[in-house]
Amino acid sequence: MSATSMTLYYNSASPFARKVLVLLHETEQTSRVSLKAVSPTPVSPDNELIQENPAGKLPALRLADGNVLHDSRVILDYLDHQHVGNALIPREGSARWRRLTLASLADALLDAALLIRYETFLRPAEKQWREWLDNQQEKITRSLLYFEQEAVTELSSNFDIASISVAAALGYLDFRQPDLNWRSSYPRLAAWYYEVSQRPSMIETQPPA
Ligand code: BEZ
Repeated sequence: MSATSMTLYYNSASPFARKVLVLLHETEQTSRVSLKAVSPTPVSPDNELIQENPAGKLPALRLADGNVLHDSRVILDYLDHQHVGNALIPREGSARWRRLTLASLADALLDAALLIRYETFLRPAEKQWREWLDNQQEKITRSLLYFEQEAVTELSSNFDIASISVAAALGYLDFRQPDLNWRSSYPRLAAWYYEVSQRPSMIETQPPA
């Protein structure tokens, strides 16, 4: 595939786009992709992005042949088939389903964190629904507890789809919920995250300061 033959619609604050960027770094494919920054919200869609993805959601990847892939899971799967190194999404066996399930839980954590962000940042304070917000936050708490108690050793074994997804989720919590102080409740997860945060792929893709 020729240089920069693909275009990634992304936002530097989007954790779902970050997963794609991390995989591009880890698989040495960054030079194949041009970045197109867009800033949609649920109440102000981006017109150019809508042409690529009718849902108006990030990330979207325009391929050299004009086809467009979305969402992050589809894009990650595609890009993982475009390099010659070790697969970051196991192709078969129980590892495939386990790693994808851990990635899915990280995405669910992220869905909850984004919904909280939109509800508290975009919605007028008098219209915010406290119980709904609390339930989103509890999804985050339960997911963190699961990663701490059931998955941290597995995460340490390989920096793949599962680890990239959990790392992007923790990075987004630090970015948008800086007072959460999750590290004190989940020390093993914190130690793992500290280690993976030193990877160039994580450093290069940090959300804006
Ligand atoms: C954010 O500002 O938190 C954000 C921006 C774009 C996509 C997702 C999240």
